[in-house]
Amino acid sequence: MAELPISEHKTMLSRDEKDQIQIESVLLSKIADVVGTPFYAYSENELIGRFQRFRKSFKEPIEICFAVKANSNLAILNSLKNQSSGFDIVSGGELFRLSKIGVDGKKIVFSGVGKKEKEIIEGLHYGENGILSFNVESFEELVAINHIAKNENKIAPICLRLNPDVDAKTHPYISTGLTKNKFGLFKDEIVAIIDEHQAQLKSIKIIGLSVHIGSQITQLDAFENAFKKTDELLFSLKDRLPHLKMIDLGGGIGIQYESEKEISYQNYAKVAEKFFGSQSHWQGSLKLYFEPGRTIIGPAGILGSRVLYQKKSSNRHFTIIDSGMNDLMRPSLYQGHHKVLFDGKLSGQTFKTTVVGPICESADTLLEDYEIDLNTRPGDLVAILNCGAYGFSMANHYNSHPRCAEVLVNQDQFKVIREPETYSDLILREQI
Ligand code: LLP
Repeated sequence: MAELPISEHKTMLSRDEKDQIQIESVLLSKIADVVGTPFYAYSENELIGRFQRFRKSFKEPIEICFAVKANSNLAILNSLKNQSSGFDIVSGGELFRLSKIGVDGKKIVFSGVGKKEKEIIEGLHYGENGILSFNVESFEELVAINHIAKNENKIAPICLRLNPDVDAKTHPYISTGLTKNKFGLFKDEIVAIIDEHQAQLKSIKIIGLSVHIGSQITQLDAFENAFKKTDELLFSLKDRLPHLKMIDLGGGIGIQYESEKEISYQNYAKVAEKFFGSQSHWQGSLKLYFEPGRTIIGPAGILGSRVLYQKKSSNRHFTIIDSGMNDLMRPSLYQGHHKVLFDGKLSGQTFKTTVVGPICESADTLLEDYEIDLNTRPGDLVAILNCGAYGFSMANHYNSHPRCAEVLVNQDQFKVIREPETYSDLILREQI
C-alpha cells in the first residue's frame, strides 16, 4: 500500500512548492504551531460542498438529518445548520448540543435502541413543540414512549425503524440491518403494531418508517434491497396510517479510504426516488429524509500528527507518531484504513514502515508495511486522511492522554473549534 497521490484530495489538500501540506490554503505546520499535535482539522468548504452535492443530487426537495454521532463539534453542526441541515441524534447529550446552536426541533430525529426516560422527556419538550420523530426500535420502547408521553401530556411522533434483513456487506461491527442485529423491528412486528396496538397507544402517532442498514456501504444494491422492502411494507400499510407523512432512509453511504469504489450521490438519489419520489406510486405524498454522516464530513477532516521516533526492530521498521487509538479508534476497532501523507522534503524514494501510535497496545497500529518517503524524520508532520467522521467523536482518554484540538479551516483562515485538553481535564470530576 502506497501513499495516496495528493491529487485524489485536491479539493481540500495540496502541497506548496516545498512539498508542505496545506488544508485549503492553511499549512499544516501553521495549525500545529498554534494548537500543537495531534489535532483534527476540517475543511469547511469541503464539508459544505459535500452537503450541497448530496442535496442537489435529488430531483426533488429532501431533508438531510446529519448523523451527529459522526462529528458532534458545535462549530461543525452550526456550519451544517447554516445550510438548513436537520440532525439525527442518538442521545440526550446530542440533543443538548443541538439546543446550544438553536436547532429547530422539527429538524431532529431521534434514533437508537436504548433511549432513556429522561432523554424521551427531553425530546418531547425540546423547543416549543418537541422533536420531529422518535425512530423506534422495539415494541417495548414504543410502549415506554407512549406511557411517558401520556404522563407529559404530549403526543409523541413516531417512525418505526424497519430491520429489513438486508446484508449491507460492510464490517460486521457497523452492520445493522440483519435479523441477528439489535436494531429495528421486523416486518411482522411492524404490521402487528399497526393492526393490533396502534389504537390503544393513544399518546403516540405513527408518522412514517425509518430504515438504516449499516455504515460504510459501497454497494448500491444493498440500499436498493432495503428501500424496496421498506417501500413494499409501507405501501401495504399506508391506508392504516392516518398520520403518515415521511420516510427516513437513514445514512450509510461509504467513502474511499483505500480502494473502495464510492457510490455516486446521483445513483443513490435515483434509487431512493425510484421507490419514494413523486414519480413513484407515492406521487409526492411522502417527504424523504436521509441521515448521512460519514459521507458528509469524513473526507473533510484530517488528523494532524507528528513523527516521534523511527525504530528498527529485527526485520521490521516502525514509525511512531504522536496520535494513537485514543485519538482515532477506527483502525484498531474495525481494521479501518486511513492513509497518511508526510509533510515536506519528498525525495521520490520510498521504504516500508509500520505506522503506530503511542498507546500500550499492539492494536494501536495505523498502517502495516506502508510506503513512505525515505526523507521522513522524527519531528515531521503527517496528515491522516478521511478522519472527519467517527474520529474525534470516538476519541477517549485511554492511557490518560488529553483529547486533542479541533480546528475549522476556511480558505486561508482557521479557527480553533475545540481547545486541546490539559491534564486537568483528565481528572475532572474524579475524587480521592
Ligand atoms: N442513522 C443511524 C440510525 C445510524 O445508526 C448511523 C450510524 C447513521 C445514520 C449514519 O451513518 P453513516 O452515514 O455515517 O454511515 N463508528 C463507525 C460507524 C458507526 C455508525 C453508526 N451508525 C465507524 O467509524 O466506521
